[in-house]
Amino acid sequence: MTDRHEPTPQSWTIELPNVQPELSTSRLVLRAYEQSDAPRITELVSQPDVAATTINIPHPYPDGAASAFIIRVQEHYAGCEGIDWAVCLRGEGQLVGGMSLGFTVAHRRAELGYWIDPARWGSGLATEAARAVVRFGFETLALHKIDAHFMAHNPASGRVIENVGMQREGILRQHVFKWGKPADIIFCGILRSDYHPQSST
Ligand SMILES: CC(C)(COP(=O)(O)OP(=O)(O)OC[C@H]1O[C@@H](n2cnc3c(N)ncnc32)[C@H](O)[C@@H]1OP(=O)(O)O)[C@@H](O)C(=O)NCCC(=O)NCCS
Repeated sequence: MTDRHEPTPQSWTIELPNVQPELSTSRLVLRAYEQSDAPRITELVSQPDVAATTINIPHPYPDGAASAFIIRVQEHYAGCEGIDWAVCLRGEGQLVGGMSLGFTVAHRRAELGYWIDPARWGSGLATEAARAVVRFGFETLALHKIDAHFMAHNPASGRVIENVGMQREGILRQHVFKWGKPADIIFCGILRSDYHPQSST
């Protein structure tokens, strides 16, 4: 639907503290990215297995891309456009992935995104981190809805989304091109009214 009116003034806002909140789970700490994370991010997301099922991570991963990414996510936080967390092992602190919420403030909604180091796939880390982010989204930010989408050939991502209580809402057929081939996108979401705190622990 084409709509070229001025956006309606917003009666609802997201207010973020100056310092990005850390989230903790039994095995993980989710914290703000720092420039010193750039080499580790590059090491992890340069792997084809990470890029293959994401829409926005380039492959090969260019020099300087991680540093630019960190600047961009810090700007997003400052502008209340979204929050990105470095997913780190509790204790040793090693960075093993990323989680994000991208806000659409006018609709009280955020999109969840994530990736995990392939060396650690299948041990529940994405689910554990995503549950903490969903809880933060509903309980602290008071969002109305959190959505996520994944490529149909990425069933592990579909499981993570189901694990946090999201429902499938539809398929966008051949909605994106990934590495020269069209791919279906599956859209999912969880409403505030569907959210049960015990399902996100
Ligand atoms: C998707 C991703 C984040 C999952 O990370 P993870 O830490 O392995 O996830 P978890 O261990 O929490 O859960 C994975 C689930 O997928 C399931 N799974 C893994 N491979 C699967 C496959 N080929 N088919 C079906 N299910 C699969 C696991 O059994 C598990 O399900 P369960 O919770 O019912 O046991 C990880 O694969 C990744 O980083 N992929 C690349 C980036 C990406 O695709 N990001 C998402 C973009 S939408």
